[in-house]
Amino acid sequence: MSGVSSSVSSPRSPRPTVAIVGGGVIGLSIGWRLAQAGCTVDVYERGRAGQGATFAAAGMLAAGVEVEPSEEGLLPLTLRSQELWPDFARELEAASGRSVGYRAEGTVVVALTRDDAEQLRFTFELYERLGLAIEWLSAADALRREPMLHPRLAAACYSAADHQVDNRRVALALIEAFRRAGGRLHEETGVDSLDVEGGRARGVTVRGERRPADIVVLAAGAWSRDIPGLPLAVRPPVRPVKGQMMALGMDASRPLITHVIWAPKAYLVPRSDGRLIIGATTEERGFDTSITAGGTLALLDGAWRVLPGIEELPIVEQWVGFRPGSRDDAPILGPTSVEGLVLATGHHRNGILLTPVTAQGIASYILTGQVPDALRAFGLDRFPQRKETTS
Ligand code: FAD
Ligand code: GLY
Repeated sequence: MSGVSSSVSSPRSPRPTVAIVGGGVIGLSIGWRLAQAGCTVDVYERGRAGQGATFAAAGMLAAGVEVEPSEEGLLPLTLRSQELWPDFARELEAASGRSVGYRAEGTVVVALTRDDAEQLRFTFELYERLGLAIEWLSAADALRREPMLHPRLAAACYSAADHQVDNRRVALALIEAFRRAGGRLHEETGVDSLDVEGGRARGVTVRGERRPADIVVLAAGAWSRDIPGLPLAVRPPVRPVKGQMMALGMDASRPLITHVIWAPKAYLVPRSDGRLIIGATTEERGFDTSITAGGTLALLDGAWRVLPGIEELPIVEQWVGFRPGSRDDAPILGPTSVEGLVLATGHHRNGILLTPVTAQGIASYILTGQVPDALRAFGLDRFPQRKETTS
């Protein structure tokens, strides 16, 4: 993209002041890294921080089993972030004094019928081609790992590296760590518009008042393209991809499963507090917040076929969230042709997984003016450029 300021090589000095639009995992983690580096950082969140897609997610760190044949370009980024997660979790816990519920039992992918097993064999070949350390399991091996699964499994795979965190706890920890590092979080404070003048971001307007900043980071998740003042040419092609989820209540001292389970029509994520998360639908319905009978039925049926013991469990919560889906399902990260405007959005199904690498990469760009190699393939410039009609 012409005009992208990605080649400044010297560190910016003094530290820039930064306004971040959106207080989900992405905005908070970038804010935390920048506040740690000594920047003055304001995160603006129109509701409560961490209550968007960040709240709705399952928290799987599934670079391996969640890879899609069409998304292989994303794999180096997801694998890098997966590698960063254990240290990121430890550092965040130390900085916040809060647990993030990191669990490392790994993920079991399950086939229930012969058709599922054929499909799984095909997917397994993709895993092998991509060099992922995922192991083929017989049904007996899978049942040794997880005895409560349906006894007539057809086949399974095991990914030792696909862990999980409790995304809601991650958000609480990020809020605390960000504040302790000196960051300013403004909740119930929506950004009315971005202030862009003369081809440069100048700050944001909040409740009619201008708040100047050297850098503005757009991290508003599924809402990122609709922020007033955003010039058309740099509007990220992001849309909401609805997901319905539910949690059942297990006895925490005797959970039905300990691994994350990927079944053909649902995934199941056991939390340490006894909640069993079941997800998720994938729906193109805009910002429709309804919990439907069809969605509920699909999730329960998908989960029950692989784990019949759920029948006895209470439903403790149901919710809807909006994945920030981009046109190619990969995130949109880095500078734009509007100087000082940085994008960190479009994380779609992997925003929790991609939090450490996004925070590190975007903070590094803001501090040095250099786009790190890991982010280079994910700029807005990979999409056909739109004509500027507003400023
Ligand atoms: P959000 O968390 O949505 O945060 C954006 C924030 O911006 C919101 O809080 C919103 O209120 C705020 N905002 C919007 N407009 C304004 C404004 N004008 N002013 C100020 N603030 C504004 N990812 C994984 O890695 N693993 C998973 O297992 C997983 N499971 C998922 C399951 C479901 C059902 C869903 C919906 C998502 C899942 N994801 C998962 C994806 C992940 O949740 C997202 O990619 C990630 O949370 C995106 O984070 P974010 O900070 O960009 O967006
Ligand atoms: N990554 C799981 C989901 O988006 O449903």
